[in-house]
Amino acid sequence: MSPLRQLLRTKPVDLITDESAHTPLRRSLGLLPLVSLSVGATLGTGIFVVLGQAAPVAGPAVTVSFAVAALAALFSALSYAELAGAVPLSGSAYSYTYATLGELVAWVCGWCLLLEYGVSVAAVAVGWSGYLNAFLDATLGFQVPAALSGDVVDLPAAVVVLLATAVLLGGVKESAAVTTVTTVLKVAVLAFFVVVAVFGFRSGNLAPFAPAGVAGVTGAASLVFFSFIGFDAASTAGEEARNPQRDLPRAIVISLAVVTVVYVLVAFTAVGAVGVDALAGSDASLATVLQRVTGAGWPATVLSAGAVIAIASVVLTVLYGQTRVLVAMARDGLVPKVFARVGAKRVPTVNTVLVGVLVAVLAALVPLGQLAEATSIGTLVAFSLVNVGVLVLRRTRPDLPRGFRTPWVPVVPLLGLGLCVLLVAGLAPATWLAFGVWSAAGLVVYFGYGRRRSELARHSAQGE
Ligand code: ALA
Repeated sequence: MSPLRQLLRTKPVDLITDESAHTPLRRSLGLLPLVSLSVGATLGTGIFVVLGQAAPVAGPAVTVSFAVAALAALFSALSYAELAGAVPLSGSAYSYTYATLGELVAWVCGWCLLLEYGVSVAAVAVGWSGYLNAFLDATLGFQVPAALSGDVVDLPAAVVVLLATAVLLGGVKESAAVTTVTTVLKVAVLAFFVVVAVFGFRSGNLAPFAPAGVAGVTGAASLVFFSFIGFDAASTAGEEARNPQRDLPRAIVISLAVVTVVYVLVAFTAVGAVGVDALAGSDASLATVLQRVTGAGWPATVLSAGAVIAIASVVLTVLYGQTRVLVAMARDGLVPKVFARVGAKRVPTVNTVLVGVLVAVLAALVPLGQLAEATSIGTLVAFSLVNVGVLVLRRTRPDLPRGFRTPWVPVVPLLGLGLCVLLVAGLAPATWLAFGVWSAAGLVVYFGYGRRRSELARHSAQGE
C-alpha cells in the first residue's frame, strides 16, 4: 500500500462495532452518570475563575460572550452527538476522525485531544488552587503556595491531580459515583450564588454594556470558550456506557444545555452585582462577589468550599477522558500498547498513573492563562474535525444506524466549523504559534512511531 493511501486510510466502521462489542472495559454507565460525567467535566475553573479574566475584555457584555461561545459549542455538540451514536468507542473525536478522515487526521486530532484533556486538567487544577486558598484563608487564616498568588510552584494543583488519579484507579463505577455527587453539589453551589447575587443587582453596573464593541465580545468569547470544554466528555466513555448509541448523544446535548443556562445566569448576576472591575480583581472572583453583596464572610466561604469540590471533580472527569482517549489510540497502535493495558478493576492502570504524574508536574509549573489558551485551541481544532466528520460519514456511510441525526446537515456542521474558526482567530497569535510547534511535534511522533506500528496498516498488509 502506498504511504499516501496509508495516511488517508479510514478505520472500517464494522471493525469499530466489533471493538465496541468486545471492549475490555466495564459497561456500567447509564444516562445519569453520563450526564454527570459531561457536566462534571465542564463546570469548573472557567466559570469560577476565567469569568473574572474575561470580564474586562468585553465589559458587562461578557454574558453575551458566554452565549456566543455556547453557540459555537452547540453546533459542534450536535455533530458530536451524531458521531458518538454511530462510532461508540472511547476515543471521542479521535475515533470519529479515524472512521471518517483517515489515520493522519485522526492522529492530529488525538494530539489535539491531549491539549483538550491532558493540558486542560493542568489548567483546571491551577484554578482550583485559587479557591483552595480563598477557603483556607477564610477558615484557618493561611494560604499554601499557588501559582495564582505568584508562587513559582503550584503545590495544591499537583496534589489535586494526584488525588484524582487515585480515585480513577479505584474503578469507573466508583469514580462515576463520586462524579454524580460532586456534580449535583456544584450546580447547587452556583444556584446559591445566583440567588444571593441577585440581591446585589444594580442596573448601573451593566453600563456601558459593551465598551470594547464587537471585538471585545468575541475576544472574551474565545477566552470563555474554555468554560464549555468538557461537555463532550461523555464521548470518552463510549465503551463504558450501557447503551452508547442511545445515551451518548442525549448526554452530550443535555449537558451543554445545563451548563449554558448556569453560565449565563452566573455571569449576568455576577456582573450585575459588583461590576466588571471588582470581578477582575480577584483569583476567587465569585467568592468576592458574595462577600461584597452580603457584607458577611460565610457565603463566600460556602462558595469557596463548593468551588474546591466542583473544580476537583473537573480534574477527575477530564483526567478520566484523557486516559480513555489514550486507550483508543494505543489499541490502534499509534501510541505504545501499554496505554491500553487494563489491570485490576478493569481500569487502564499504567496509563492512568503516567497521565496523572505528567499532568501533576505540568499543573505545578505552568501558569493558568497559557494553559487555558492552549487547551482552547486544541479543542477548537478537534471540534472542527468532528463537524467535518459528520459531513464525510453522511456521504461514505449513509446507511449506518445512528442513535442521533444532526439536524439540517450540512448547515449545522458548517456553522459549527465556521464558529470554531472564528474563535481560533480570536486567540492570541502566540497561542497559534505554540499550537504550530505542538502540531509539528505531533507529526514527528507519528512519522517516527505510529505510522509504522499502526494496527490498521498491519491488518491491511496481511490482507494484501
Ligand atoms: N470547562 C472546564 C472548566 O471550566 C475545563 O474548568
